[in-house]
Amino acid sequence: MRFDIISTNPKILDSSLTNGLIKRAVEKKYIEVITHNLHDYAVGSYRQVDDSPYGGGAGMVLKPEPFFRCINKLLSERNYDEIIYFTPQGISFKQDYANRLSLKENFILICGHYKGIDERVITKFVTSEISIGDYVISGGEIASIVFIDSVSRLIPGVLGDGESAITDSFQTESGFDYPQYTRPEEYEGLKVPDVLLSGNHAEISRWRIQKAEEKFKRIKNK
Ligand code: ADE
Repeated sequence: MRFDIISTNPKILDSSLTNGLIKRAVEKKYIEVITHNLHDYAVGSYRQVDDSPYGGGAGMVLKPEPFFRCINKLLSERNYDEIIYFTPQGISFKQDYANRLSLKENFILICGHYKGIDERVITKFVTSEISIGDYVISGGEIASIVFIDSVSRLIPGVLGDGESAITDSFQTESGFDYPQYTRPEEYEGLKVPDVLLSGNHAEISRWRIQKAEEKFKRIKNK
């Protein structure tokens, strides 16, 4: 699986791409992540990537030409299954969407900034507009990391032994995890529930389902 990220500031992506799950997935060659600095596709001595909006208004809009140059170059090199633009106005990114996209191969991820990007980029190239939540963050870089992490961990082999995406909370019916404990058995007067120390796996399993459901009801009723 290959992700080409187009960003005005790829440095924001550095620590997430060079640590943790994404780094391991790249090292094991399950995924490739290539960043493209939009400024490299801008012309003129200032390499200007943004300009004021037609019709007036505050903020700057990312210009179409650098995107067209960068995306056309990528499209001339390989086919892409999806060209995604991250925006709070996009469709909500949920687990089942991540599951479906984990079966695809090549993605271009467009990170916007400022007041957005020139609409012609969206009209010409974008196949899906995705939001990672009902709030505004300062750019699409963090959204693209959320996207890459959640899709990559579904590729068989990316998670280590003993880890499984199937048991992730959002893959279970309630959508919630049961409470987890590790050593010590008692800490500052707080004890691990007896059932977890009982060795009775059927009981433990029942308890976990019950606790996950209780949490589900509690949170949904809030
Ligand atoms: N860019 C700014 N806010 C965003 C959000 N909530 N989701 C995706 N991209 C964004």
